Amino acid sequence: MYTNQIGSVVRGVYARNAALASSVVRPPSRRFSVTSGRKQRRLRTDGAGVCQHVLPGPTSSRSASHSTVDSDEVKRFKALASKWWDEQGEFAALHAMNDLRVPFIRDNLLSVHEGCQPGKPLKGLRILDVGCGGGLLTEPLARLGANVLGIDPVEESIGTARLHSSCDPDLREQLRYCACTLEELSGRQEIGVEEEEEEEGGAGQFDAVVASEVVEHLADLETFAFCCNHMLKPGGSLFITTINKTRLSYLLGIVVAEQILRIVPSGTHDWNKFISPTELERLLESNGFLARSVRGMLYNPMMGRWSWSDSTDINYALHAVKRGDEPRHERAEASGPEQQQQCQVRRTAAAHN
Ligand SMILES: C[S@@+](CC[C@H](N)C(=O)[O-])C[C@H]1O[C@@H](n2cnc3c(N)ncnc32)[C@H](O)[C@@H]1O
Repeated sequence: MYTNQIGSVVRGVYARNAALASSVVRPPSRRFSVTSGRKQRRLRTDGAGVCQHVLPGPTSSRSASHSTVDSDEVKRFKALASKWWDEQGEFAALHAMNDLRVPFIRDNLLSVHEGCQPGKPLKGLRILDVGCGGGLLTEPLARLGANVLGIDPVEESIGTARLHSSCDPDLREQLRYCACTLEELSGRQEIGVEEEEEEEGGAGQFDAVVASEVVEHLADLETFAFCCNHMLKPGGSLFITTINKTRLSYLLGIVVAEQILRIVPSGTHDWNKFISPTELERLLESNGFLARSVRGMLYNPMMGRWSWSDSTDINYALHAVKRGDEPRHERAEASGPEQQQQCQVRRTAAAHN
C-alpha cells in the first residue's frame, strides 16, 4: 500500500509521461502548415527530417544541428493524439494541473506586465506554448486574453488542438497552432521565412514561452534553452513545469509506477532525462536567463488534484526571465483610450495606497 502522498507522487510523475507517443517526424515542409511552398523549399533537413539551421543570438552564430526531438517520445504521443480532451483519460493529471499552472503563469506575468482589462488580464501579450499537445494549457491562456501560438511536432495532436479550439469562436483571434518544433520556429527568420513573423510572432517577439511537462521528453535541452531565449523579448518570461531527478522520482515514477503497480507502461520514463531545479537553473542561466521562482507541486490521484508543495523533490514549476533590457511594458495589441485611462486610474490608486 502506498499513502496518499506517495500515490500523488506516483501519479504525478506518471501522468505526463504516460501519455507519449510517436510519429515519424515529418519533413519540415509539411509541418509548417502556414508556410508557403516557395518558403518551404528553403528549409534544409537532415536525415531525420529535422530542420538544421544556424541559430542567431547573443552568443554569436552557433551551429545547431542538434534537435530537441526524441523520435521515440514523439511516437508515443502520436498514439495518444485523440485522447487529449478526455478529462478522465491518460491526460487527466494535465487537465487538473491547470489549477496551478494557469495562475502561476498569469500571476507571474502580471507581476511584470500590468493587466488592465477585467477578465482578460493577459490581453496584448504574446505567448508561445512549446509542446502544446492538444492545447490543454494553450486554450486557458488564450481565454485570459493572450495571443497564443501553440507548437508541437506531433501533427495529430495539433489537429486535435485545432479541432477543439474551433468549437469556441472567442478563441479564433487569440489562438494559432503550428505543427513544428521550437528550433524550426526559431530558425525561420534565418531561412527567409520573415513574412509570417508578424502574423504569428517570430523570434524576439514573445512576452512568454511556456513549456509545461515537455522538457523531460526532449533530446537536447541546450538547443531548447537557446531557442527559448531567441524567441523571447528582452525581459520575457519562460515558464517550465517538469519532474525532478531524484531517488524519489526514480523510486516512485519508474520502480513503483512502471514495475510494481504497472500503472505506466514499462519504459515510459527515462530517469536520465529528468532534471533537477538546480541543473535547470544552471542551464537557463548559461543561456541568458535569470530564474525568479521555483515551486514544488504534488498530485493527489485520489482527489485528482494538484497542490503547491514545499518540496520540489518530484514535480516543480519554474519561472525565469530573459536577461537584457527592462521588460517592455507596452502590449502588442495596444489597449484603447478607455482602457488606458482605467490603467492610469489603477496606477494612480496603487501609488496612493
Ligand atoms: C506531457 S505532454 C504535455 C502537453 C502540454 N504541454 C500540456 O501540458 O498539456 C508533452 C508534449 O511534448 C511534445 N513534444 C515531444 N517532443 C517535443 C519537442 N521536441 N518539441 C516540442 N514538443 C515536443 C509532445 O508531443 C507532447 O505533446
